[in-house]
Amino acid sequence: MKTAIVTGGGSGIGRAIAHRLAADGHRTAILDLDTEAADRVTQEIRSAGHEAMAVGGTDVSDRKLVNAAIDTVREQFGPVSVLVNNAGMTGFDNFLRIEDDLWERILAVNLNSVFYCCQAIVPDMIEAGWGRIVNISSSSAHSGQQYMTHYVAAKSGVIGLTKSLALELGRSGITVNTIPPGFVDTPMLRNSESQGLLGGSVDHHAERTPVRRAGKPEDIAAACAFLVSEEAGYVTGQVIGVNGGRNT
Ligand SMILES: NC(=O)c1ccc[n+]([C@@H]2O[C@H](COP(=O)([O-])OP(=O)(O)OC[C@H]3O[C@@H](n4cnc5c(N)ncnc54)[C@H](O)[C@@H]3O)[C@@H](O)[C@H]2O)c1
Repeated sequence: MKTAIVTGGGSGIGRAIAHRLAADGHRTAILDLDTEAADRVTQEIRSAGHEAMAVGGTDVSDRKLVNAAIDTVREQFGPVSVLVNNAGMTGFDNFLRIEDDLWERILAVNLNSVFYCCQAIVPDMIEAGWGRIVNISSSSAHSGQQYMTHYVAAKSGVIGLTKSLALELGRSGITVNTIPPGFVDTPMLRNSESQGLLGGSVDHHAERTPVRRAGKPEDIAAACAFLVSEEAGYVTGQVIGVNGGRNT
């Protein structure tokens, strides 16, 4: 049985990924800033008969907290061989009004976190001669997105980091891939909708999506489950879009 860490596993896409990896037989640890949400999802997974633990209060933009959380996971579940960097925060701001603090926070949560988590866990994977890293980026990094320069810069950075790290770690039996989701029905998307930031309702955009629906968190989890599997060992450094055909 392998140990997997899912950051931001307390909600939306991360929750679905944590459920899926646990159901597929991974001991699954959820690292999330939101302690209550991380505990709730852990209980859901345990109730379904699978192994899970939560390290709540983990702000993935803080290297010390990341390292401490990963040590806690190792103590209970052993070395980590699957890492899904999913935690993220969005933002919607006129470029000229973005202040340094906000820019740095969005970069830290979406990009620095990937750097910190990978640096903490890759030694376990090198030691094992096997590892799987999946970084959740964003389809907005394919297309650009107005009023999201900070977020799109961070998510584009995640794609570049993924490609480069894949080249560095290939010889160690470790794959590194990124899934840029597009338009997935989660609390993050509904929050943007309720603030009128989507330029129309979720239903309105679903009708204009080639597959005629919004994405489900489980759609991303399914792609992730493949990328962390044994049989995906020849897939690395790839950008696997899961977006209903909105970006090709
Ligand atoms: N929903 C979409 O359509 C969509 C599209 C593109 C990219 N994404 C990306 O997918 C990922 C998941 O998004 P979602 O829609 O499920 O969002 P969500 O808001 O439903 O869930 C995000 C989770 O991350 C956690 N989190 C936020 N900041 C954190 C921090 N600093 N440290 C630790 N945990 C933190 C939250 O507590 C929450 O549990 C994000 O990286 C997001 O940018 C989502």
